[in-house]
Amino acid sequence: MWGSTPGWPAVLAEGSVLLRPYKRGDARAWSEVRISNREWLAPWESAPPGPWSEMNSTRAYAYVYQDMRRAARRGDSMPFAVCLREDGQERLVGHINLGNIVRRAFSSAYAGYWVDHRVAGRGVIPTALALAVDHAFGAGGLHRIEVNIRPENRASRRVVEKLGFREEAYHQRYMHIDGSWRDHLGYALTSEEVAAEGGLLARWRRVRA
Ligand SMILES: CC(C)(COP(=O)(O)OP(=O)(O)OC[C@H]1O[C@@H](n2cnc3c(N)ncnc32)[C@H](O)[C@@H]1OP(=O)(O)O)[C@@H](O)C(=O)NCCC(=O)NCCS
Repeated sequence: MWGSTPGWPAVLAEGSVLLRPYKRGDARAWSEVRISNREWLAPWESAPPGPWSEMNSTRAYAYVYQDMRRAARRGDSMPFAVCLREDGQERLVGHINLGNIVRRAFSSAYAGYWVDHRVAGRGVIPTALALAVDHAFGAGGLHRIEVNIRPENRASRRVVEKLGFREEAYHQRYMHIDGSWRDHLGYALTSEEVAAEGGLLARWRRVRA
């Protein structure tokens, strides 16, 4: 059991995009997608403490899974496997996490995400982020979602720009990624900003139409 915290566990879907909690049985699919995306992901992720192939092996998944499970059970995060349902099959193609959840007067979380380069450019992550944000503002009881992105990461900046996140900060030497302390742009959204539009997914559907 994942435990019971506001908004968790949850299964969210829009079209072929499905967000669901990770399962123990995702080890092989998770490892395959992580290992085949090393060059795609490494410039944008905090450095793992060991070689990529080991940190993303099926064995490593057992620890990753336990960590995610514990954090979700404590109410610290909502880690979703991002799947595509196509041709009658469900395939794990990415990840989205609402992490560092702080409740009470802050009621805020940070969103992090990635997708398999083989399905990039299809709007999978904007759809996943819109689903996750609406869920966070609804059943999750949160008020604010923040996304921090390296200025060089054009693709990720496009995700938040298309969804209408506000650019609100410039964080110098914010996070240790790919060998150095990297500056990040801070984007955010509060629930009031999308409530009148019927939520972020409704906004995203209009942007795509
Ligand atoms: C950032 C990322 C999650 C975007 O996910 P996505 O589902 O491809 O998002 P979109 O389909 O909306 O595409 C976003 C942008 O990627 C670029 N893009 C499109 N097709 C692409 C492709 N085949 N390969 C690379 N980039 C592509 C485009 O600039 C696009 O913006 P546009 O819609 O204005 O043309 C994905 O590029 C990724 O996983 N990158 C590596 C990890 C990462 O950067 N994580 C975020 C850290 S903050």
